[in-house]
Amino acid sequence: MNDRGESPDPADRLLVLLGGKWVAAAISAAASLGIADALGPGPLRLEELAARTRCQPQALERLMRVLVGEDLVREESGVGYALTEMGALLARGRLGELATFVGSPFSWDPWSALADSVRSGESAFAKRHGLPLFDYLDHHGDQADLYHAAIDAFSKREARALAEAFDFSPVSRVADIGGGRGTLLIEVLSRWPHLEGVLVERPAAAEQARAALARAGLDQRCDTRVGDFFESVPGDVEVCILMHIIHSWDDPTSIDLLDRCRQAVGPDGTVLVVEGLVVPDGRRDLTNLLDLEMLVLCGPGHERRKPEMRRLFSAAGLKLERAVPLTAGVR
Ligand SMILES: C[S@@+](CC[C@H](N)C(=O)[O-])C[C@H]1O[C@@H](n2cnc3c(N)ncnc32)[C@H](O)[C@@H]1O
Repeated sequence: MNDRGESPDPADRLLVLLGGKWVAAAISAAASLGIADALGPGPLRLEELAARTRCQPQALERLMRVLVGEDLVREESGVGYALTEMGALLARGRLGELATFVGSPFSWDPWSALADSVRSGESAFAKRHGLPLFDYLDHHGDQADLYHAAIDAFSKREARALAEAFDFSPVSRVADIGGGRGTLLIEVLSRWPHLEGVLVERPAAAEQARAALARAGLDQRCDTRVGDFFESVPGDVEVCILMHIIHSWDDPTSIDLLDRCRQAVGPDGTVLVVEGLVVPDGRRDLTNLLDLEMLVLCGPGHERRKPEMRRLFSAAGLKLERAVPLTAGVR
């Protein structure tokens, strides 16, 4: 074994990597079956867990074996299955929605055409489903719910970190452009009680954002606008945030959007871009995987290195002042 606990035999390591497909599918199935939710209150024996999750016990046992091997579940003799700290994250409201989305057919199927996307540079999602991602979501409410729930789960940590890391004290009004269901503004407005927000979104997400902000008691401080951010960006703000937005678009489109944000905030304003940066060396890094997800979902949309980001900013008349890591990063 090497110091990462891997076999020195390259064939063994390759087989383990290929098995990643089955591991991701097993984790996603566990999330969609609600295994972490069922085990949340305490350990359960196989039969009880099977009854609660409406699974066939022998088939469930086979899934549980894989989850035990991946350190998501522990099997305790005489007690049954219990969640590990990582397994508890598969519950709904934590990362469960993201795990469910990963294995759901509408997001999983296009990955079988990754090689086509690499050949053409075009979105396998659009080819498979006949529409670009966001147009498809406009017409498929159930899948849009899955998608937005997954993005919320993914974004929550970064939203919290941004609310802490950026000093909003001199700011009175902030815009979240393509703000999804309000996850970021809920964190930011809760952390900075003097601040007002404006969120721009497509109709269905805007409606859900409005409801989420109301549930958080923040609707009086946030103006949720239905709109196309390529047509208008609200002008009455000092800070514009683009979180997980420009990686969906090619360079000219991203420059156009950054330029609109620059004009919206005026000469003393700030544009905050929250996104992964491609690391300069060949390290294993989650951003490289997200970059392939962008290729599959959005075609020319891509993650960028810091110098590419700097060029993009400069082409939009902005200066990249600083890049701040919000989370420790995933390797
Ligand atoms: C990857 S999600 C990011 C959501 C949110 N910023 C976050 O990070 O949690 C991209 C968002 O952009 C929205 N969007 C895409 N095209 C848009 C457009 N032309 N105008 C407004 N919103 C758009 C989508 O509906 C989606 O919610």
